[in-house]
Amino acid sequence: MILELLRKRRSIRQFAATQVEQEKIAYLVESMLRSPSSRSLNPWEFVVVQDAATIEALSKAKPHGATFMKNAPLAIVVCADPNKCDVWVEDCSIASILLHLAATDLGLGSCWVQVRLREHDASKNASGYIAGLLGLPEGMEVEAVVAIGYPKEDKAGHPKDTLLYDRVHYEKFGGR
Ligand SMILES: Cc1cc2nc3c(=O)[nH]c(=O)nc-3n(C[C@H](O)[C@H](O)[C@H](O)COP(=O)(O)O)c2cc1C
Repeated sequence: MILELLRKRRSIRQFAATQVEQEKIAYLVESMLRSPSSRSLNPWEFVVVQDAATIEALSKAKPHGATFMKNAPLAIVVCADPNKCDVWVEDCSIASILLHLAATDLGLGSCWVQVRLREHDASKNASGYIAGLLGLPEGMEVEAVVAIGYPKEDKAGHPKDTLLYDRVHYEKFGGR
């Protein structure tokens, strides 16, 4: 049941050294490829990375918020050619979140690392840095990297009484 999964879901940034099995990677790949996309244009491309040196380099894509990824045994880079679809950001975001949920479903921990609109350094953005690292074709933009592995931290799901029910409006804004 989806709500059971969502009640468990948290962003996990500490990973055990254990590799993610190939059949689990296949489950993740199938999950992300089942993402809905605008006009079924499916503009995304995914790069599945298990090479430790490449993952370490990915963890340096931006100065903050990505360093935890160096200990992840698996990283999936979600990118697209913006010329293929005007709403590629939404399409890539949906695929990234389905990946995060599929990982939770498998007992894996994962965390989204934002790449789009982030700088690598003064000379290039994080997307350009990753494009160089992975040999992405010209024009490709990276939305996010999802870092995945067996969790080495125990995080409870968010308690129901912390959910922002006041952000939900019925019939009109402010309607309760
Ligand atoms: C669009 C988006 C971008 C995010 N970028 C990062 C990031 O760059 N680095 C990071 O450590 N976490 C990132 N996160 C994870 C959030 O920090 C996390 O979802 C939030 O703190 C809530 O925690 P929870 O997922 O455990 O409920 C991102 C999440 C989203 C949805």
